[in-house]
Amino acid sequence: MIDLGLDGWRVLVTGATSGIGRAVCTLLAGEGAHVAAVGRSAAGDHPSGVACTIVRDLTDDGAPKGAVEEAVARLGGLDAVVWAAGSAVPGPFADAGESAWDRGLRLNLLAVTQLLRGALPHLRQRPGRIVVLTALSAAEPPASQSVSNAAKAALAAAAKTLSREVAADGILVNCIAPGRVRSRQLDTAFPSDEVRTAFSRRHIPLGRFGTPEEVALFAVLLVSPRNTYVTGQTLAVDGGMAVSM
Ligand SMILES: NC(=O)c1ccc[n+]([C@@H]2O[C@H](COP(=O)([O-])OP(=O)(O)OC[C@H]3O[C@@H](n4cnc5c(N)ncnc54)[C@H](OP(=O)(O)O)[C@@H]3O)[C@@H](O)[C@H]2O)c1
Repeated sequence: MIDLGLDGWRVLVTGATSGIGRAVCTLLAGEGAHVAAVGRSAAGDHPSGVACTIVRDLTDDGAPKGAVEEAVARLGGLDAVVWAAGSAVPGPFADAGESAWDRGLRLNLLAVTQLLRGALPHLRQRPGRIVVLTALSAAEPPASQSVSNAAKAALAAAAKTLSREVAADGILVNCIAPGRVRSRQLDTAFPSDEVRTAFSRRHIPLGRFGTPEEVALFAVLLVSPRNTYVTGQTLAVDGGMAVSM
């Protein structure tokens, strides 16, 4: 049994109401972490066992910074952040107008940078940890979803840059890039077992979609104080789907 040192570790998690973020909250809480779970849905939809729930639409003006302030006030400080909110913007490049770009970049890039800027002063007082959910499509963009592909690629670059700037403060910053993981938005995009199986046979060496728990495991490891020498990395959790080395 490995003790990840998470007992009392104060973590803000976005995307806490569904999929990977929800699984991260559950795993962290089970390890004794004090989790501030941030989601758009009502508090009743948040995972149980967390220290507090914060209901925000993170695309609202000032909401990311406000979520940090509320988490700090309710947890008494902050040791780590996991950003798992996200929403793919489907459709080909030619159909993506200004509002699609504005919506996609606002949640998947700008809100993340605003939240991390708000969290940095608190993490600097700790040996802070940051994990950001990007996507395999940031490095290997498929056709369609140009908006979210671009946002996630920019986010990965911003996280890498940040990792270099804050290493001297003891803050470690990493990304996790899921391939295809069963969740609310993926079940909308791949709505049946037949569709998922056909896709998996063609593209995923392990032959199936992943589960949120399979991704959460690595997010929790990277965001824990036991991670002391991995920073600036993107870990693909994708059943072998990435083609590049
Ligand atoms: N699943 C995959 O295969 C996959 C692949 C590549 C990348 N990713 C990335 O992994 C992360 C988790 O994805 P998932 O598929 O597990 O998610 P999901 O189950 O679809 O849930 C999305 C989460 O994001 C939150 N969210 C969406 N818009 C928001 C907003 N405006 N303000 C606040 N919260 C908002 C949702 O909150 P509410 O429920 O309250 O609306 C929900 O908690 C995302 O960043 C996603 O881009 C996932």
